[in-house]
Amino acid sequence: MCGIVGYIGKKPAFPILLSGLKRLEYRGYDSFGFFVLNKNKPFLFKKVGKISEFEQNFPNPDGEIGIAHTRWGTTGKISEANAHPHYDCQQNIFLVHNGIIENYQEIKERLIKEGHKFLSETDTEVICHLIEKYFERNLEEAVRKALREVRGTYGIAVISKKDPQKIVVARLSSPIILGINKDEFLVASDPAAIITHTRQVINLDDNEIAVLKPDGFFILKEKPLETIEWKIEEAEKGGYPHFMLKEIIEEPEVIENAIRGRLIIEEGSVKLGGLDSVSAQLREMDKLVLVACGTAHYAAMVGEYMLEEYAGLPCEVDIASEFRYRKPVVDEKTAAIFVSQSGETADTLAALREMKKKGILTIGITNVVGSTQSRETDAGVYTRSGPEIAVASTKAFLGQLATLAMLTIYLGRQSEMSLVTGKRIIEELAKLQELAREVLKKAPEIEKLAKKYRNFKNFWFIGRKYNFPIALEGALKLKEISYLHAEGIAGGELKHGPLALIDENFPTIAICPSDSVYEKMISNIQEIKAREGPVIAIATQGNEEIKKIVDDVIYIPKTLEMLTPLLSIIPLHLFAYYMAVLLGNDVDKPRNLAKVITVE
Ligand code: AGP
Repeated sequence: MCGIVGYIGKKPAFPILLSGLKRLEYRGYDSFGFFVLNKNKPFLFKKVGKISEFEQNFPNPDGEIGIAHTRWGTTGKISEANAHPHYDCQQNIFLVHNGIIENYQEIKERLIKEGHKFLSETDTEVICHLIEKYFERNLEEAVRKALREVRGTYGIAVISKKDPQKIVVARLSSPIILGINKDEFLVASDPAAIITHTRQVINLDDNEIAVLKPDGFFILKEKPLETIEWKIEEAEKGGYPHFMLKEIIEEPEVIENAIRGRLIIEEGSVKLGGLDSVSAQLREMDKLVLVACGTAHYAAMVGEYMLEEYAGLPCEVDIASEFRYRKPVVDEKTAAIFVSQSGETADTLAALREMKKKGILTIGITNVVGSTQSRETDAGVYTRSGPEIAVASTKAFLGQLATLAMLTIYLGRQSEMSLVTGKRIIEELAKLQELAREVLKKAPEIEKLAKKYRNFKNFWFIGRKYNFPIALEGALKLKEISYLHAEGIAGGELKHGPLALIDENFPTIAICPSDSVYEKMISNIQEIKAREGPVIAIATQGNEEIKKIVDDVIYIPKTLEMLTPLLSIIPLHLFAYYMAVLLGNDVDKPRNLAKVITVE
C-alpha cells in the first residue's frame, strides 16, 4: 500500500508534506518523493530509501501547494525513476498514485506510438501521459478523460504547472481522504497523515474527482463509463453451425475471462473491484440469500454449496418467481445475491426490488454491462462471458460458477478461510480453463452417445452435493432444445419415488466424479442397473472401475470437488446440443422460449 499526502493553502507545503509522510512510514515503503509547486522553481525530490536517511539535507522549498508519496512497489523495481511523483513529457503534470492499473501495458504501448516518452517502469506513469494527452487548460477535465481509459484501482493526487492553483484528486477502490480546514485543504491515503492538521475529513467515494483550491473545493461524481467490450464478430457465429455450439466451445475462455486480473495468488485471495464499495458491509453479513431463474438458479445452487463449505456462511437459494412472493426472513445482516446472465429477467428484478425495499444489501452477478440488474444492485461482479446469443444458456453458466467460486474466496478470506485454502482453490481455478479444453476434446464421443440414445424419450439426470444442481442444469438443457422429457434429481431422492420409472427405456445420466459422495452415487447406479436402466456416467479420469457397472462413461479431469461442476456440465451441454441437432430442432431458438424473460 503506498502513502499519499497533499496540501494546498497559505502555509509552506513542504513541512506539512514531510510530517504527513512520516506518519505513513508505519505502512512500510521502499522509496519516497515530493513535488512542491512555486511560481518560480517547482521542487521535485525523489529518493530510494527511508526519509530519515535524507532528512538532514532536505532543502526547504517555497510553495503552498504540494504532493508527496511513499512507494511500496508493485509494478517496476525499486528505483528513483520508479518513485513517485511521476510526470509527463512536458513536465507539466505531477502525480502520485496508490493502486494498480490493470491495463497499463496496452495504454503505454499506445501512448509510446503517439510519441510519449516514458521514464519509469511503473503503471502509474501512464496516467500522467494520459492527462497530458487530454490537457488543454483545465486539469480536472483532463483527469476525468484520462481516467475513463484506465482499468484497475487508483487513489491519485495531481498538480499541473499550467493550471497551478489546484490539486485534483480521484478515487477508485484505493482510499482518498480530504482534510478540510478554513483556508487550507489536505489530501491523504490515510487519516494518520493529516489528523494533526484537521479532524474534519471527507472520504472520497469511488468514481469521485475532487478539486482542491486555496479558497475551497468541489467534488465531481463521475458516472463510470461502462464499456461493452464485445466485438461484433464475437456476436456472429464465427463459422460454427449454431451459436450454441460456438458458446459451448467458448466455455474455457469464459472461465479465463472471469478470473483474469482477479486472482491474487500470493495472498490466496481475489480482487473483485465491483464489491470494494461494500466490502466492509459484506464482512458483517451472517446470511446470504441467492436468487435467480433457470440456469442461473442452478449456478446459485452450486454457489450455496461453495459458500457454506468454504466461506462458512449460511445460504438460502430460491427461484426468483417464488422468492418475490415469499415472506423471506432477512435482516440488516443478510446480503441478497442476484444471478442473471441478462440482468433483465423480470422475476429476478422484481425480487431484487423487493429486497431493496427492505434495505437489504443487494449484490449482482451478471454478464451484461449496464443491464438493469447491474444498475439497480448496490454492487456486483460482471462475469465477462461475452455475448450469449443462443436461448439455451451454456457459457454464461460457467461464468457464473467461476464468479461464485471467486465470491466464495472473497468472503471466505474475510472470515475463516485460511491463506492455504484460498491459495489451493485459486491454483485449481487457474488450471480450470485447460481442464475444460480437455473435456471439449470429448465432443466426438459425446456426439456418438447422442446418436446411441436418440430414440429414447425420457432421461433422468442424477447428482449429489455440488453436482445435484448440475443434474438439474443438464436436464434443463436437454429438455429445452430437444423437447424430450428430462428431469434432474438428487441421487438420494431416487428411491423416494423416481426409481419407479426406471426400466430399459428410461436412461439415466449419473454425474459421479471421484468426490466425497462418489460411493453414494455408485449405490444409486447399482439401484438403476438392477432394474435394467441404461446409465451414462460422467466420471473422473482414471476411474476404470465404473466402466464395469455402467453402459457408457464420459471422463472429466480431476479437480477440487467444489470446482467439478465447471467440468461436469460441459459434456451435458454438448449432449443436449447434439441430441437437438439429431432431432432437427432449431437449436439456437427452441420453440416456445425466448432468450430473456422480461415478463412475469
Ligand atoms: C437457460 O438455458 C434458459 N434460457 C433460462 O432458464 C435462463 O437461464 C433464465 O431465463 C434466466 O435468465 P438470466 O440468467 O438472463 O436471468
